[in-house]
Amino acid sequence: MDVHDPLLSEYGGLSAQPSPVARMMAAFAADFRDDIDINLGVGYVNESTIPRASIERSLREVLADPRRYRAALNYGGPAGSRNLIESIRRFHLEHGIGGLTEDVFARNRMIIGPNGATSLLEGVAHVLRPGIVITTDPIYYIYCNFLERLGYEVCAVAEDQHGMDADRLEARLVELGDRRRDVRFLYIVTVNNPTCTVLSTCRRQRLVEIASRLSRESKRKIPLLFDKAYENLIHDPEVEKPRSGLLFDELGIVYEIGTLSKILAPALRIGYLIGPPGPLVAAMVQKTSDAGFSAPLVTQEMASYLLDHCVPQQIRAVNAGYREKAAATRQWIDASLGRFLSDCRGGSAGFYYYLSFAHVETHENSAFFRFLSRTTGDPKIDGRAVDRNPRVVYIPGQFCVHPRGELVDAGRRQLRLSYGFEELPRIRQAMELLRDAATYAEATC
Ligand SMILES: Cc1ncc(COP(=O)(O)O)c(C=O)c1O
Repeated sequence: MDVHDPLLSEYGGLSAQPSPVARMMAAFAADFRDDIDINLGVGYVNESTIPRASIERSLREVLADPRRYRAALNYGGPAGSRNLIESIRRFHLEHGIGGLTEDVFARNRMIIGPNGATSLLEGVAHVLRPGIVITTDPIYYIYCNFLERLGYEVCAVAEDQHGMDADRLEARLVELGDRRRDVRFLYIVTVNNPTCTVLSTCRRQRLVEIASRLSRESKRKIPLLFDKAYENLIHDPEVEKPRSGLLFDELGIVYEIGTLSKILAPALRIGYLIGPPGPLVAAMVQKTSDAGFSAPLVTQEMASYLLDHCVPQQIRAVNAGYREKAAATRQWIDASLGRFLSDCRGGSAGFYYYLSFAHVETHENSAFFRFLSRTTGDPKIDGRAVDRNPRVVYIPGQFCVHPRGELVDAGRRQLRLSYGFEELPRIRQAMELLRDAATYAEATC
């Protein structure tokens, strides 16, 4: 008698296969050669920005002060450490982040997620009822892929240089007709991943107005979720520091999710949500409890110490580093790839550039991709099987645009590259390899 595999939920069944990007990255990581291959694909922060000595000190200080940091090695409460919540609040107020005021904090509630911003995004998707999620195209593919596995329908609206195009959004809502009732929430990444386009204050205000109107029309609050993962990494002094969407919220629909991953260390896994008190936040607290009671209390207390003692210098140093890398990378992009490109976004915030080629295709089956993954079959390009030439991994645009959206065709000629993880000499070498790949692709088509 056959014994079958466990019966999975629909989500479980869809999750049993790795997502296309996870598959591609795993294939590359399996035989990655540290000093030879170049990884422009991962969203890792630059190792040298992580304040190791301060993190070490923070652990010592937390354990040495049990009156302030009570039972730091024990279980924590599901809403998050009071010390950490107070430190995040003060950090925003003292540094004028998003223009947030005491008043805004008084009308909203802050909670800490069990495992970074990602777990809060996951929580929102779990506690709301599946339906339509409106987001920006190009999309944050990791979250959108998860939303679709969970049964949501992603409706992606193209961005312009200020973020999601609000006129296009209005038009899309008209097209949805009665299905507007099925819109469950709007998900907006304020420094977009993959493009690093910064959502302007003006556009935020307009999105709050549109979501408020939609909520009134549906007679139900439709949350507008701003993901601020990269907002403390706006390193271009020319770019206006955006104001928080919470400032424009009269109806109680705006939620902001932030993280300490990019300014301190991803491994701390600290993410927070600020939004109006009510059933959504209450359900999120229970969700944190269900997922593991709380984020590890000791890391929450360490993060509180770090915010209180070393974050301003830390943010300045991190941003100075990314600024320098952004400028150098841009020069090499222009010099090596300028003649092939029709557009280049990013460079003011975060650590991605998003390139659009005029003709060269970048998807997994393209000559360009095969050149850089050394899978052309031509030993002159690939090198010998035991000693392959340097490979470069990037995220093809095909994964960054919504598969049923209006950017599908453009996505075949786009890519996201990160200047976060690799050091400058490797990035320079990678740009030369990208040029060689583009030249090869042109010659083979
Ligand atoms: C848009 C966006 N949101 C959230 C996250 C994840 O943040 P965390 O490390 O706090 O889970 C990332 C990570 O790269 C991201 O790009």
